[in-house]
Amino acid sequence: MKIIIMFIIAYLLGSIPSGVWIGTKFYGKDIRQFGSGNSGTTNTFRVLGKTAGTTVLLADVLKGTLAASMPLLFNIPINPMIIGLGAILGHTYPIFAGFKGGKAVATSAGVLLAYNPVFFVYSVCVFIVILFLSRMVSFSSMISLPIITLSSLFIGDWILTIIAFLLTIFIIYRHRENIKRIRNGTESKVPFGLGYKK
Ligand code: G3P
Repeated sequence: MKIIIMFIIAYLLGSIPSGVWIGTKFYGKDIRQFGSGNSGTTNTFRVLGKTAGTTVLLADVLKGTLAASMPLLFNIPINPMIIGLGAILGHTYPIFAGFKGGKAVATSAGVLLAYNPVFFVYSVCVFIVILFLSRMVSFSSMISLPIITLSSLFIGDWILTIIAFLLTIFIIYRHRENIKRIRNGTESKVPFGLGYKK
């Protein structure tokens, strides 16, 4: 019962649509009406700029970290990643924003931060290198995940590997529109990285 309650709390935490709320409250803009139409960090940076983007990034990561920290905080014996999945689900299908949420990347990172901080730092490095080379957040998100999944095999933590594998499939699925844009060359790029000219 405690595990179910914790999972529901994690889902509600993940459901906090930071990008939508910050956009509408402080900028008078629903970011889902602009840019890629996504409510996550990347689109917040794109539509509202660095301050809002950084705030949403931290908030969305924190949702995952807090959710995955609950088993330890309340001394309940369950793998933190399982509870973290509740937050990822909430972030992607938020009850507070018509079930139209983000693409699971930042909140998944937050779950990993709580679960294995060293592997989190490694994963962020993988993500940054691919982002620098491709200049596309979506591409980096989709390519980092399989690399992270394969890398997790070296740790010998099968729950981490299984969850990373499932997230890889889910995150690629959530990037369907991005895949179309990457294929036809219209995916937006970040203003830094390999080949960027001012
Ligand atoms: O985390 C989402 C990112 O990978 C892509 O976002 O707004 O470019 O679809 P966006």
